[in-house]
Amino acid sequence: MAVAKGAGGHDIPEIIDLLFTALRAAERQRPPVTSMTAVHLNAPDIDPAEVEYFENLAHRWWDEQGPFWPLHRLNAFRVGYIREQLCAAFERDPTAERPFEGLRILDIGCGGGILSESVARLGADVTGTEITEKNVRVADIHAQWGGLDIDYRLATVDDLAAAGERFDAVLNMEVVEHVEHLPDFLADCAKVVRPGGVMVVATINRTPVAWLMAIIGAERILRWLPKGTHHYRKLVKPTELVDGLGPDYRVIQRTGVRVNPFNRAFSLTGYMGVNYMMVFRRGDAS
Ligand SMILES: C[S@@+](CC[C@H](N)C(=O)[O-])C[C@H]1O[C@@H](n2cnc3c(N)ncnc32)[C@H](O)[C@@H]1O
Repeated sequence: MAVAKGAGGHDIPEIIDLLFTALRAAERQRPPVTSMTAVHLNAPDIDPAEVEYFENLAHRWWDEQGPFWPLHRLNAFRVGYIREQLCAAFERDPTAERPFEGLRILDIGCGGGILSESVARLGADVTGTEITEKNVRVADIHAQWGGLDIDYRLATVDDLAAAGERFDAVLNMEVVEHVEHLPDFLADCAKVVRPGGVMVVATINRTPVAWLMAIIGAERILRWLPKGTHHYRKLVKPTELVDGLGPDYRVIQRTGVRVNPFNRAFSLTGYMGVNYMMVFRRGDAS
């Protein structure tokens, strides 16, 4: 059987072994990132079941054949969209090699850093935050391997808001459908975009079609995602994003995202009843 080759010509299982070895070495040599996990398990926007779910999968983030393969495929697609939208918003040349040079970008709920790394390679000064300590460690080690300087933190968005942190752009991708108390979470997210800045949100709509496609189809029939990845009650309607971010924000772009079940290719669509992305701009005056 052919074994997929990854970076540097290593076999994928070999890369995973190397990652484990690096993780163990890092455990021994580096001080803990922080010990805030237990504290943040009690933060109102965090669902402890989600923390447990993502903790258990954390070592698989960079296994492109593993449980996060859909995110790896989606990432290759969404980075093009983010590049186009941020270049339009900040009047950058989308054909430039590093069009995000000088932009301070926050990746909320960055997981193992799949998106943070892509955006850093486009020149951005990236901060990635997580509520799951193992995710931060995996993301940090992987970025070091790739020679990328990314500021990963174990922190809630509430922590950043309270510290007065502000970003040119905030990426809130595939996270809002995992949080508790969405209005509180969005109110905090709204505070960390600088006036005139942009937030990109990607999530799954709460519709019967989304239930059929994203939960029954993707988790039970095709088994693209582990069972229990998404819960219908936590899916998010576009109007809930608009209401949660409040009157300082206006929608500057919105699109549906569709995946072809046969070749697993992603594309944009006008239909927003399942996966969708929205780009918001914060007013200058706030
Ligand atoms: C499906 S993953 C998406 C990861 C990354 N944003 C991406 O798109 O590649 C969802 C992530 O959201 C994080 N998460 C869950 N609840 C959160 C919360 N209340 N605040 C911040 N992150 C959260 C999880 O730990 C997990 O890493």
